[in-house]
Amino acid sequence: MITFWYKRNNENSKLPKNRGGKTMERKTVVVLDFGSQYTQLILRRVRELGFYAELLPYDEPWENVQKLSPSAFILSGGPASVYDENSPKIPSYVFESNLPVLGICYGLQALVHQLGGRVEKSPHREFGPAQLEVVKHIGIFEGVPNKFTVWMSHSDRVEILPDGFEVIARSENSPYAAIRSLDNKYYGVQFHPEVVHTQHGKDILRNFLTVVAKLSPNWLMKNLAEELINELRKKIDGKVILGLSGGVDSSVVAMLLHKAVPDKLIPIFVDTGLLRKNEGQEVVKQFENLGIKIYCVDASDRFFKALEGIEDPEEKRKIIGHTFIDVFYEEAMKLKQQHGDIQYLAQGTLYPDVIESKVAERKAGAKIKTHHNVGGLPEKLPFKIIEPLRYLFKDEVRALGKELGLPESIIYRHPFPGPGLAVRIIGAVTREAVSILQEADAIFIEELKKWDLYNKVWQAFAVLLPVKTVGVMGDYRTYENVIALRAVTSEDGMTADWAKLPHEFLNHVAKRIVNEVRGVNRVVYDITSKPPATIEWE
Ligand code: XMP
Repeated sequence: MITFWYKRNNENSKLPKNRGGKTMERKTVVVLDFGSQYTQLILRRVRELGFYAELLPYDEPWENVQKLSPSAFILSGGPASVYDENSPKIPSYVFESNLPVLGICYGLQALVHQLGGRVEKSPHREFGPAQLEVVKHIGIFEGVPNKFTVWMSHSDRVEILPDGFEVIARSENSPYAAIRSLDNKYYGVQFHPEVVHTQHGKDILRNFLTVVAKLSPNWLMKNLAEELINELRKKIDGKVILGLSGGVDSSVVAMLLHKAVPDKLIPIFVDTGLLRKNEGQEVVKQFENLGIKIYCVDASDRFFKALEGIEDPEEKRKIIGHTFIDVFYEEAMKLKQQHGDIQYLAQGTLYPDVIESKVAERKAGAKIKTHHNVGGLPEKLPFKIIEPLRYLFKDEVRALGKELGLPESIIYRHPFPGPGLAVRIIGAVTREAVSILQEADAIFIEELKKWDLYNKVWQAFAVLLPVKTVGVMGDYRTYENVIALRAVTSEDGMTADWAKLPHEFLNHVAKRIVNEVRGVNRVVYDITSKPPATIEWE
């Protein structure tokens, strides 16, 4: 999608007024983040179970939490120890609210510590799988077996329970691996029910929501589609422009707006010249079939000119980012002159971006690539921002896309980086290099689809290397370019494994590329995971 350079904008990163699918009547399971690497997973699991949840920093003020109509609290794990100076504390409103609470790992320890029990350094740290023995099948443990494997990751453990608590499960190194208060309001688990390695983890979370908190599911895609459409219809009273890339996020935004305010939507497609083969035409055709007319801008000359002779990846990113924003701005201004009342700019910002920008405010992370900590769309754009997906995860966006009738070819399209093929051409970007890469890439993708492998990988693409190697074709010596193929499996693009594609398949693709793509005489396959490599080569 093309909201990439500005999607991680920090605009109202506290609590925005536009609550996407969240209406004031909908109750929210509030997940308070104490810094665990698994916090987002808790949220995803709760949503997968059909309950609306939001993630907030552990020190979010009550006035913001209250606006969400909280129905239960889940306290995440985290790296701190309750005895650390300045260790994060559970805010007092969690206790005063009278709502059910589930503490996970650090969340459990903080609960025990703040309610008068005792947490100490564990003589044996537990990392990885452990056998859990349930001693009381009550509340979160209704219907689960007596013994099963759970995932642990802690160095402290509970030694003395607060008054009014009892133990409900133990493991070899955690005598209090799960506890509850006798009034059934507080539950705590030392292990991580949100990770897939914990057996019955989803049952435990479901039990907390339904048996303990007595909630009913309130997060269904069908209702969500209707709600979002109604909300957009109510809100939008002028024309709205949208940067449409043909990726799933901006496409879903386009569909929502098309259903809500069909005659107010102006989708803009910027052809940077750095797209996949025939991408522009395909996007236009696909949307025409859906009844959506796209305003296309061919800005490729401008991009190639700006990139002339530039080899440094970060430079390329910056130039493409700025050029894109300039082109978009100019086109938007032209359209504003024609249509007068354009008031809104829609973006496909997703929840992980919102969370990331919140976390980034608190933590200084190392800069890997600019797209990971980019700035915002220039403030000079005189439009109000609409972000209907800012509370959704990618899989929810896909489900919503299905609900809205988007074709599978859009819904399951591999992610494509904002700077496009420019970061897949190592070194300087020219029209000729783009054209070679487009041909090789198209063969790879076409074959992945034919072999039914396309949907089994997170992303797959070709990379053009700035090296020439010697080959032999017929009786002739050749001295031509190398193409690297990259295919990875991943859940979210944050970590990835190289895809173990069948050798016959790779053999077939390599042969086709060398035979059909002029200027290429060698194909290699990238077998590095992320980390230590990144998915893209630049
Ligand atoms: P890396 O290469 O950082 O990529 O492992 C992770 C995911 O992000 C995509 N990516 C980008 N997306 N603008 C984007 O919108 C960018 O500059 C960019 N760089 C990488 C990449 O395709 C992968 O899905």
